[in-house]
Amino acid sequence: MPDASPLPHLPFARPVISEAAIAEIADVLRSGWITSGPRVLQFEKDFASYAGAHQAIAACSATAALDLVLQALELKPGDEVITPSINWVSGPNMIELNGGRTVFCEVAPETLNLDLASVQRLIGKRTRAILPVHFAGAPCDLDGLRRLIAGTGIVLIEDAAHAAGARYRGRPIGGDSEVAVFSFHPTKNMTTAEGGMITCSSAELAAKLRILRFHGIRKDAWKNHGRSGKDLYQVLTPGRKYNLTDIQAVLGIHQLRDLDRHNAERARLAGLYAQQFASSRILTPLALPQQQGTLHAWHIYIVLLELERLRIDRAAVVDRLEQLGIGTALHFPAVHSQHYYLQRYPEADLPVSARLGDRLLTIPLFPGMTDANVERVVAAFASIEKEHSR
Ligand SMILES: Cc1ncc(COP(=O)(O)O)c(C=O)c1O
Repeated sequence: MPDASPLPHLPFARPVISEAAIAEIADVLRSGWITSGPRVLQFEKDFASYAGAHQAIAACSATAALDLVLQALELKPGDEVITPSINWVSGPNMIELNGGRTVFCEVAPETLNLDLASVQRLIGKRTRAILPVHFAGAPCDLDGLRRLIAGTGIVLIEDAAHAAGARYRGRPIGGDSEVAVFSFHPTKNMTTAEGGMITCSSAELAAKLRILRFHGIRKDAWKNHGRSGKDLYQVLTPGRKYNLTDIQAVLGIHQLRDLDRHNAERARLAGLYAQQFASSRILTPLALPQQQGTLHAWHIYIVLLELERLRIDRAAVVDRLEQLGIGTALHFPAVHSQHYYLQRYPEADLPVSARLGDRLLTIPLFPGMTDANVERVVAAFASIEKEHSR
């Protein structure tokens, strides 16, 4: 008898796109204007209103958005930005490309959110900014960070790539931020295929970011010269070209409307995992933030493998899950141990991050996943525990 047909592959993430969004994207495609236009303006307005933010500036990715924010900061050689080593490479890479020095801090093992004591030790005369990540969608200790930098002039740039829809003290992430950056990559809680958004509290910074986003051009610069003419423009400084398109913005407008519902479903599924993993000997899910008024966005579900209790390593666990049709991802190996960063900062000593980076594992979580899918993942880990635990 041949084997029963394998179960369909369960990815670690999957976007859920409504038919209404698809129909409206088709309208834009037929409209004669498909790049940045009225839909981008609408999306920015909607996002600002959702987050309760003063300003929202759309960009073609969160990486681009981080680049814009760091360019706006005008880092001088030797200026430092503190960011966690358990991180996607975008933040560190953009710090480097903008002429800064990346100072890696440790994270708390329970949440993978940055460790305040480590940040405090690293703040120095050259610190220009701190770039925390709201890891996996769990808000980090913003009050603590704000207390640390009060009166120092250090800028707090929140990497909220994972945190669309998350809340801190009852308020949406990005609403009270000096500056925050969101990602709409397809694995995120809301997507525009590729895309990002910056929220900020300063109209002046927002104006600068808009200029930097499009070639460094100010379209109404002619006003300074006493001339008129609506098509005249001036390059005020060399800028990037990081605009979002109307095609993407339409998707964003619809995804934003669905965000709270999708996040609630993510939270429900995460609750099921937590219940069912409670008795596992070979893994520990990340801890939940305890602060009142915190809403987790559940961008991803991460477990820490108890490698000491296993006779196989993480790569073998990943392979076994893949054989069982279960997709995984790594969010994230420690950035300070990546080739470039090892060469540039050989002195970086982050034992907690190095240890965590080797044992974390992201497992499937997305709205549209069924309870049976959760049970399938839990059963797969149970079989690994049975076959391979010490
Ligand atoms: C923490 C963090 N920051 C920034 C980014 C960059 O997002 P994007 O892919 O939209 O550039 C990501 C993407 O995964 C991320 O996880």
